[in-house]
Amino acid sequence: MFHVKHAPANSDLSAPPVTGFGLYVHWPFCAAKCPYCDFNSYVSADVNQERWAKAFELEIERIGRSTRGRTLDSVFFGGGTPSLMNPATASRILEAARKQWRFRNSIEITLEANPSSVELARFVDFAGAGINRVSLGVQALNDGALRRLGRLHSTKMARKAWDIANSVFERASFDLIYARQHQSLADWSAELREAVQMSPSHLSLYQLTIEDGTAFGDLYSKDRLRGLPDENLGADFYERTQDICERWGLPAYEISNHAIPGQESVHNNLYWSAGDYVGIGPGAHGRLTIDGHRLATEQERAPAGWLAKALKGDSAIDSRAVLTQREQATEYLVMGMRTADGVDLKRLNRMISLSAIFPRSQHLEDLGLVWRSERRMGATRAGRPLLNQVLKALLPDN
Ligand SMILES: C[S@@+](CC[C@H](N)C(=O)[O-])C[C@H]1O[C@@H](n2cnc3c(N)ncnc32)[C@H](O)[C@@H]1O
Ligand code: SF4
Repeated sequence: MFHVKHAPANSDLSAPPVTGFGLYVHWPFCAAKCPYCDFNSYVSADVNQERWAKAFELEIERIGRSTRGRTLDSVFFGGGTPSLMNPATASRILEAARKQWRFRNSIEITLEANPSSVELARFVDFAGAGINRVSLGVQALNDGALRRLGRLHSTKMARKAWDIANSVFERASFDLIYARQHQSLADWSAELREAVQMSPSHLSLYQLTIEDGTAFGDLYSKDRLRGLPDENLGADFYERTQDICERWGLPAYEISNHAIPGQESVHNNLYWSAGDYVGIGPGAHGRLTIDGHRLATEQERAPAGWLAKALKGDSAIDSRAVLTQREQATEYLVMGMRTADGVDLKRLNRMISLSAIFPRSQHLEDLGLVWRSERRMGATRAGRPLLNQVLKALLPDN
């Protein structure tokens, strides 16, 4: 039933213990395309919510057949802008999920939302559908910056959305983008202090990345995107972000994610600890351990093609590859080293011999970029912003 692209090189497929099980639902539509964004998202005036709800139900049923009996720890509606989904569509997706899997009592069900009036009006209905956590795309607390980022909301609207989100949902988080055009370190420090004073229990803080194929990417390649920080200033932005967040009791539990201890996102942690998750919707990725095989799944990217295949129950909607032990080790390190807790060494040892890793990690420890305890290994605060180099040093053959 799987389209296996390549077979495992290692005959010992004993899977590592899986940490958690989640469902990711990708809604690929937005009200406008932001100039920095390379997520699989499209502007469409014509979205038939009934057909999309049906398609998601059928996909959950199809994948449920090979994952029956499992218990869901989290559901994440991402995008795109899933808050443009009808709450009834979200409700049908959750109902379909309940038919396939048990829901853990403490299940986290997150919706990414944009702070527009259309979406605010639906918050109560989304909560009624079962969503208990919202992740709000505030992006900036500065109206000029919001305009330059192509956002449709104002700072005032973002603050209102934040207040409503907190009164409606059990938990809420918001996203900001920093190291923006013409932003000084002092500007960002002031903006971040305003943000922490909004009392978030969770904050996602991303450095602006210029992605190929976006409007910003095109401008950048023509040298027409001015006022971006250089690498040194970028590092200062990162350091200042850590200082302010730590002072306000919101330490980083991952490179870009901060939380009051205990308020970390279950779904995020599932990704970073190499847990299992079903990924449905255009372009959605998943990771599933089935019969001892760790599968990487990716669904068809184009919304129209995805919809047609999902409605037909066509399993060609997915490409699936069995990950070798070496690939699993690489993935576990790439994801786990992003986090403050790092990776579990016993678990890593089931995927790759630690004797190959330790001499290299020792060198990185001496440089103050990596820490190691008896059971775990991680990147230090100084090592995390240099993670690509750290990983290259740990896994030189990749
Ligand atoms: C799936 S996206 C957006 C969800 C929602 N549609 C929104 O715009 O608020 C998740 C987050 O990624 C961040 N992001 C997207 N593109 C980025 C980029 N090029 N650089 C930095 N952060 C980015 C934004 O903070 C965004 O809220
Ligand atoms: S940042 Fe959000 S709203 Fe903007 S295009 Fe990307 S997914 Fe859509």
